[in-house]
Amino acid sequence: MTQLANEHKAINLSQGFPSFEPPLRLLELVNHYLHAGANQYAPPNGVATLREALAAKVDRMYGRVVDPDHEITISSGATEGLFSAIQALVRTGDEVIVFDPAYDSYAPAVTLAGGHTRHLPLRVTEARPAFHIDFDELADAINARTRLIIVNFPHNPTGVNITAADLQRLAEVVRDTSVYLLSDEVYEHIVFDNEQHHSLLSHEELWPRSIVVSSFGKTYHATGWKVGYCMAPAELTVEFRRVHQFTCFAVVTPIQHALADYMTEAPDHFAELPKFYQKKRDHFCALLKNSKFTFEPAQGTFFQLLDYSAISSESDVDYARRLTKELSVASIPVSVFCEQPPAGQKLRFCFAKDDAMLEDAAERLCRL
Ligand SMILES: Cc1ncc(COP(=O)(O)O)c(C=O)c1O
Repeated sequence: MTQLANEHKAINLSQGFPSFEPPLRLLELVNHYLHAGANQYAPPNGVATLREALAAKVDRMYGRVVDPDHEITISSGATEGLFSAIQALVRTGDEVIVFDPAYDSYAPAVTLAGGHTRHLPLRVTEARPAFHIDFDELADAINARTRLIIVNFPHNPTGVNITAADLQRLAEVVRDTSVYLLSDEVYEHIVFDNEQHHSLLSHEELWPRSIVVSSFGKTYHATGWKVGYCMAPAELTVEFRRVHQFTCFAVVTPIQHALADYMTEAPDHFAELPKFYQKKRDHFCALLKNSKFTFEPAQGTFFQLLDYSAISSESDVDYARRLTKELSVASIPVSVFCEQPPAGQKLRFCFAKDDAMLEDAAERLCRL
């Protein structure tokens, strides 16, 4: 969609990247380390100060004491973390459960590991209108071949969060199984309306069987740096590192040093981020109030789903293409995140953009 957006000079609300820069001080720190000789290979597990800063963060935020030497590995973006975790855990013939709509990197990594991806839909019901896991369906899907369940909250593309009660239900469902959990938490710091993120790190029973992956890209407006991390109990980290060593070996050195310093210097960044993005979400939603789109404001992430069923009965792929070409507004059709086309007609719009861009896009969308 970004390619199509560029071809048609459309306002690109499709791909999930911010249109603003990382904090200035962080850029200064990167610049400093580039000129201070931090330009050779980093340790394969990651720069020690960065792993220590992350350990302090998860202790503070999720009450989890993680050993920076044996339970944290810096990865080349969350993407490599997810990929290496899947290669480490999944063997030929294993089943891996994902919830559709699902981020697009999970299934190909499972296929490459020789596994089979089982897609369960996130459900929307009258009693619970926000997308959520149906835990009875999940319990029915688990069998002797199930090796791994991949969860992603705050969720791309639907913008929903997981609740503490959901985590408890998940614990009950996997309790008597040997299933592992891979939790993609790249939007962990972008949660709105005074809610909090419920990390798998925070759950006593789930943590021993979990690999938690996150990314600095979303948190510091620096998706192009591709620096992420993986936290897992020591015995899982050993397996993870066996793959990581030969997938990317080590991650960009000066940026790791800079992130470590910035995390220590600006611990309030995590508290500011939800407010910053909530303002964007509220602005975008307010601009669309009188449009024909229907929507539930995102609970987290920087994505807003808009339902266009009152405007057109076209497929979401056709409609997204048409909006890009004719209206010059690019979005992502939700069906591309699904094995089976989902019920409803929904497009995903990224609101991590300058207000002027959001205003221009909304003005065009209100014409429909
Ligand atoms: C749900 C989800 N997981 C993983 C990633 C990849 O993160 P990174 O850019 O750090 O590899 C993204 C990026 O859009 C994402 O939305």
